[in-house]
Amino acid sequence: MTDAPATARTQASVNLVVMAGDGIGPEITAATIEVLRAVDSRLAQGLTFIDAPIGLAALRSAGSTLPDSAFAAALAADGVILGPVSHNDYPPLAEGGLNPSGEMRRRLDLFANIRPARSRPGLSPRCGKAVDLVIVRENTEGFYADRSMVLGPGEIMPTRDLALSLRKITRAGSTRIAEAAFRLAARRRKKVTAVHKANVLRVTDGLFLECVREVAARHPEVAYEERIIDAMAALLVRDASVFDVIVTTNMFGDILSDEASEIAGSLGLAASLNAGSEHAVAQAQHGSAPDIAGRNLANPSSLISSAGMLLAWLGERRGDARLVEAADLIERALDCVIAEPRWRTADLGGPLGTEAFGRRIAAAVGELASA
Ligand code: IPM
Ligand code: MG
Repeated sequence: MTDAPATARTQASVNLVVMAGDGIGPEITAATIEVLRAVDSRLAQGLTFIDAPIGLAALRSAGSTLPDSAFAAALAADGVILGPVSHNDYPPLAEGGLNPSGEMRRRLDLFANIRPARSRPGLSPRCGKAVDLVIVRENTEGFYADRSMVLGPGEIMPTRDLALSLRKITRAGSTRIAEAAFRLAARRRKKVTAVHKANVLRVTDGLFLECVREVAARHPEVAYEERIIDAMAALLVRDASVFDVIVTTNMFGDILSDEASEIAGSLGLAASLNAGSEHAVAQAQHGSAPDIAGRNLANPSSLISSAGMLLAWLGERRGDARLVEAADLIERALDCVIAEPRWRTADLGGPLGTEAFGRRIAAAVGELASA
């Protein structure tokens, strides 16, 4: 009996839902899909893409910035590529304005927001030394008013002159994010830094630290240290190269990840994956940049790299080395292209537009795969 053709025998199947989002979202998601198609044609992962409109476009056509049908598609997919959203411009909830990013994180229980800050060859890190760290940010509780309550918002205004915000920290939430951080560190430089403000938030960050310490005790192979958030902000500027994995609560992670990625090179290059135990959503770290939307100016690197992280996450779950290899190929292509000033986009002082940059990365994927 003859073997079936290699592609037929080994073709994987990965169904991705693409939510283009607002502002520069449609342009950077188009570039990302072009790169993913190039990877697919080399590594036969069987990627399929389903568009699920969200954001202002969906508000006009379906009356909601996250229509039920879009969420249902995300729930059924193997993974989601989520473009940036202009949720500050959305109407109130009663008029269909939902923050898709927060809704997806909460409803799909994407508790870990994995945010690498890595310097790329040829682009000087702002702290003088090459940075390679990952922020593991809790994503489903903390100081996020849309996530802290079962019913009603986590922010209230008892009188016109008094506003209150609730910060929710749970044992289960803190333990699972700590476990994600230590598992990751065990495969990297084996160091975890927990960032907190337990000197002031004694009860909530006290509980967070208690949980992280318990997990640390189960991972003696990983060095563990703690830093207070304000000092940490300064230490990153001083020398971010000394950190490996940083674990922290939602809002601190939001702020520190923008800081760390900018210090590593540029916030515009920073990838992020929202991961749970069943679902994962690739999402750029940056926003929707409405000022340059539709002008073919945006740098799609962040979303392209995030999509790579999604493939790696799927590959690890399925034990499919090709998906992990695909992620590696995407990172190497980004490194090679960004290293060349003539192939950079305008934000990095280069001449390429979004489309040309996406095509260049797709071409680099092909070149590296056949090298
Ligand atoms: C992020 C963003 C979001 C957040 C905004 C858009 C709500 O800043 O993903 O980092 O704060 O989580
Ligand atoms: Mg942010």
